[in-house]
Amino acid sequence: MSCQTDEARTPVEVQGWWTTGGEANGFNKIIDLFNTAHPDLCVYNAAIAGGAGSVAQGRIKAAVLAGLPPDTFQVHMGHELLDTYVNIPGGSVMAPLDDLFAANGFNDLFPQNVLDIISSEGHPYSVPLNIHRANVLWYNKAVFTANNLTAPTTWAEFETAANTLKTAGVTPLAIGDSGIWANGMVFETILIGTLGVEGFNGLWTGATAWDDPMVTASLEQYKKILDPANGWINTDHSSLSWDQAVDKLIDGSAAMTIMGDWANGDCTAKEFADYGWAPAPGNSAIFQALSDSFGLPALAPHPDETRAFLAWLGSAEAQAIFNPYKGSIAANTTSGDPPAGELQYNAYQKSAQADWKANPIVPSMEHGAAANPAWSSAINDVLTAFVADLDVAAAQSALVTASGDFVTASRQTIATR
Ligand code: GAL
Repeated sequence: MSCQTDEARTPVEVQGWWTTGGEANGFNKIIDLFNTAHPDLCVYNAAIAGGAGSVAQGRIKAAVLAGLPPDTFQVHMGHELLDTYVNIPGGSVMAPLDDLFAANGFNDLFPQNVLDIISSEGHPYSVPLNIHRANVLWYNKAVFTANNLTAPTTWAEFETAANTLKTAGVTPLAIGDSGIWANGMVFETILIGTLGVEGFNGLWTGATAWDDPMVTASLEQYKKILDPANGWINTDHSSLSWDQAVDKLIDGSAAMTIMGDWANGDCTAKEFADYGWAPAPGNSAIFQALSDSFGLPALAPHPDETRAFLAWLGSAEAQAIFNPYKGSIAANTTSGDPPAGELQYNAYQKSAQADWKANPIVPSMEHGAAANPAWSSAINDVLTAFVADLDVAAAQSALVTASGDFVTASRQTIATR
């Protein structure tokens, strides 16, 4: 950002992982608007590349815990925020934002289920900028039309469609799991569809056991999808990023991908409109949610200036300008249509706005809402092995072990909220 060279302006450093496409476009746009309105300040986006924060999160955590934080940083609502930075031995390294929330009326502007998981003991610790939906199937409409297909609503329908596509020489499902989280999102949708809302939520509270036969059935389904013998996914998946998988859908070499609705922002940025969407198979009328939020480290170098920026991020106006680019919807319930002259919400986002209000909500494990990040990381290790060996029994037993270490701690965290 050019204002960084202006010594008359106080710098406010923001760290996150939005470096390309709709993610960077939207965020840079609201940063520029803030800087224009605050000629004495210079917010700058010191983003660290890597989907889902696969690189950024480790670096940010190390800096914050070492007492050398940026002014503010991207962090997912839920366990990622609270278990990494707030409810930790020695006490929170984040500043509570009660005063900011009171001054801006945020307690009335964000939904209660969001306030609940950005707060600890009644104190809010981050400002949510958006709501993303994780459990979405995206497809290339022209490819579907050419093969007489409609969006599969069950995995059985998916399998029939996949075989048709394979015969036609099209990869049925593109995956870009150079970061294992992208593959883990497919597994989460299978768990949601198999266990239902209550059963899936129970995995993260101890109410559903990881050795449940439904988890076995989920792993069997997952194995079928990944099995190279079926030829349903791209063979180069482990060398691609999530957005390179979207590229395959765009160029028609693949028909579908399962990804969060940042894929919607990515298609918009790449000026591709011929895509359709549906809940992932088995996920109809269930909204799997996550939110990108921004907090204030207790040792932020410029706390007052950062508070001004956080107030802007939470505002109806900033969220209406940002989210059409991002693919997500506003977290602020009073945020309406974007101003004239700005990018408008597209049809997908209008459907997500309606579903967010109407559907039961389940949290995303891969994006920090459902589980302690140490637990997610242990699950990801199990999934990395599974993608290579497809051993259901070994994976389930490793999931039981991985989860046993964390589920008790996780329940305690929930109980203190
Ligand atoms: C998620 C994040 C999204 C998007 C995605 C891909 O973790 O919440 O906003 O950035 O990763 O990088």
